[in-house]
Amino acid sequence: MGLLEGKKALVLGIANNRSIAYGIAKVFHENGAKIGMNYLNEKFQKKLQPIADEFNAEVFEKLDVSSDEEITRFVETVKEKWGDVDIIVHSIAYANKEYLRDYYYKVDRQSFLQAMDISVYSFTALAREFLPVMNEGGSLLTLSYYGAEKVIYNYNIMGVAKAALEASVRYLARDFGELKKIRVNAISAGPIKTLAAAGIARFTEIQKMAEERAPLKKTVTIEEVGKAALFLCSDLGSGVTGEILHVDAGYNIIGM
Ligand SMILES: NC(=O)c1ccc[n+]([C@@H]2O[C@H](COP(=O)([O-])OP(=O)(O)OC[C@H]3O[C@@H](n4cnc5c(N)ncnc54)[C@H](O)[C@@H]3O)[C@@H](O)[C@H]2O)c1
Repeated sequence: MGLLEGKKALVLGIANNRSIAYGIAKVFHENGAKIGMNYLNEKFQKKLQPIADEFNAEVFEKLDVSSDEEITRFVETVKEKWGDVDIIVHSIAYANKEYLRDYYYKVDRQSFLQAMDISVYSFTALAREFLPVMNEGGSLLTLSYYGAEKVIYNYNIMGVAKAALEASVRYLARDFGELKKIRVNAISAGPIKTLAAAGIARFTEIQKMAEERAPLKKTVTIEEVGKAALFLCSDLGSGVTGEILHVDAGYNIIGM
């Protein structure tokens, strides 16, 4: 029997089979979870249909998290189809590529707010809107990166956004723990070549450096992130909330 047998898990942010969310959905599916997915727009809907089929996704709906109306509609649809939800994985981020290079300070107001809106606020908004639908003892999970804690060249506005995201994990953990015994955590994943990562200047160098310096002398896979997500979102993690778990082959512990 899988660790998530019969659990209803929304895994948001699959863009293709290289997405971190794909790795998480795969491990959840293998462990007996029912999977719900979203797509950003019609272009993605078509591309993602085979993945939705692979996971027998019972929910496969449009959701652009920058729209309140779409969030409301998405919650309504999930409520109609499932009635309730056990797990929500938020694996969504966006920043104007123009500012994922060069100096951080150059970011303009619109790009700053957009990165914060899509990459930070959306986690809190989804948590709030799904609260009445979520089962007691459920789990929320989001994805962060080391650039929240230390300066990573070119990560810039995303680093500032991830710092805010990690702080919101702690505040949400307090609120949701008290209200419904729901646990809220983040995985701080090491660099993985995905669509989002391709927007960061000199990403291959970041990956190479991580591989050289990490105690395990490698970068992590989306399946490894998926396995850590399984721990956090299943009963194995019942004592863990408000935590930022590094899944980075140990990179973050190295000073010099
Ligand atoms: N790849 C890495 O090295 C790495 C490392 C640590 C953390 N992360 C984080 O992991 C998460 C997933 O990214 P990924 O690397 O798997 O890349 P990805 O491109 O596969 O996933 C990013 C997802 O965000 C979605 N998205 C963007 N704007 C959206 C919007 N307005 N509404 C709804 N969805 C939207 C995209 O459609 C896509 O599915 C992100 O939060 C990212 O910052 C990535």
